[in-house]
Amino acid sequence: MTDLSQLEADLSGRIATAPDLATVEAIRVEALGKSGSISELLKTLGRMSPDERREQGPKINGVRDAVAAAIAAKKAQLETAELDAKLASERVDLSLPPPPERKGRVHPTMQVLDEMIAVFADMGFSLAEGPDIEDDFHNFTALNFPPKHPAREMHDTFWLPEDERGERKVLRTHTSPVQVRVMQRLNEKLPAWIANGQEPPIRVIVPGRTYRSDSDATHTPMFHQMEGLVIDRNIHMGHLKWTLDTFISRYFETPMVETRFRPHHFPFTEPSAELDVRCDRSGADVKIGQGSDWMEVVGCGMVHPNVLKNCGLDPDQWQGFAFGFGIDRLGTLKYGMPDLRDMFASDVRWLEHYGFSAFQAPNTATGLS
Ligand code: DAH
Repeated sequence: MTDLSQLEADLSGRIATAPDLATVEAIRVEALGKSGSISELLKTLGRMSPDERREQGPKINGVRDAVAAAIAAKKAQLETAELDAKLASERVDLSLPPPPERKGRVHPTMQVLDEMIAVFADMGFSLAEGPDIEDDFHNFTALNFPPKHPAREMHDTFWLPEDERGERKVLRTHTSPVQVRVMQRLNEKLPAWIANGQEPPIRVIVPGRTYRSDSDATHTPMFHQMEGLVIDRNIHMGHLKWTLDTFISRYFETPMVETRFRPHHFPFTEPSAELDVRCDRSGADVKIGQGSDWMEVVGCGMVHPNVLKNCGLDPDQWQGFAFGFGIDRLGTLKYGMPDLRDMFASDVRWLEHYGFSAFQAPNTATGLS
């Protein structure tokens, strides 16, 4: 006859000192498993006389219950200890500084674009857009470039291969074709985002990408322009001068800067001019609004009567002015970048230096944040 109390004491002792869950599990199998020591004892009950069974049954069952309870308690204790150890070793120290994270920057062209839009929007201009791939009509013909005129060559145009109708499209050489799209009669086949048939009075700005086969410190094959177009009755060059002077002073965040019109030629304006601003080029950076030099900032003029006619407007009723800025160039002037080509070189170091925070303080001149 196995000594029950000895067995229980033995098992309890081993359970109490078991170092880990695996040991406890081994003891459980050894005692309570199918052929475990206690299970074997329980099997002997069947072979006992009723009297014997009445005496031994509660004892053996008592040992089984006590051992099972000891195992469950020990398991719970070991599991808690294991979890505590894990929590202690895996604790996240929230007081540690986070690893450095690379912050994105707003590209100077996009910053300048936003600033320009804010100034013109404040003056009552709305936005219009046109396609980068243009046809000859919008890019040249409607803008009064005569066929075979050398001005077409001057634009160093990227021509696309002939299409199935024998037409050669171009990567637009300027944003001026959108003037035509804004004024021309409605064309319902065009997608909604393309400027399309606005009734005068018209007051729009047109930012966008433009393309010319040209590359040096002040030219890149792709660049950005912002066109402006105002069409109304009794519009004259005084309106143009005020609009450009006001824009320049707000954009460069200076009091009124001295400007001058210099006669020029564009096929789509008459008269045509370039607007120069007073500047100082004696130092490393160009300083706007001081010194004895002049710098050209924008091409402009009164919309040519032929352009109005090409767009279905009567030049005796409607006049207007137009202008075209180089957006990137305005950025290089305001923020002192020596080479336009760097703008599109995708050099992250350059972008980190010249780029803008997306969360900067509001700009007092433009109200932009
Ligand atoms: N489209 C001209 C260019 O790219 C710029 C320009 C000049 C636009 C005079 C105008 C304008 O609207 O009136 O060189």
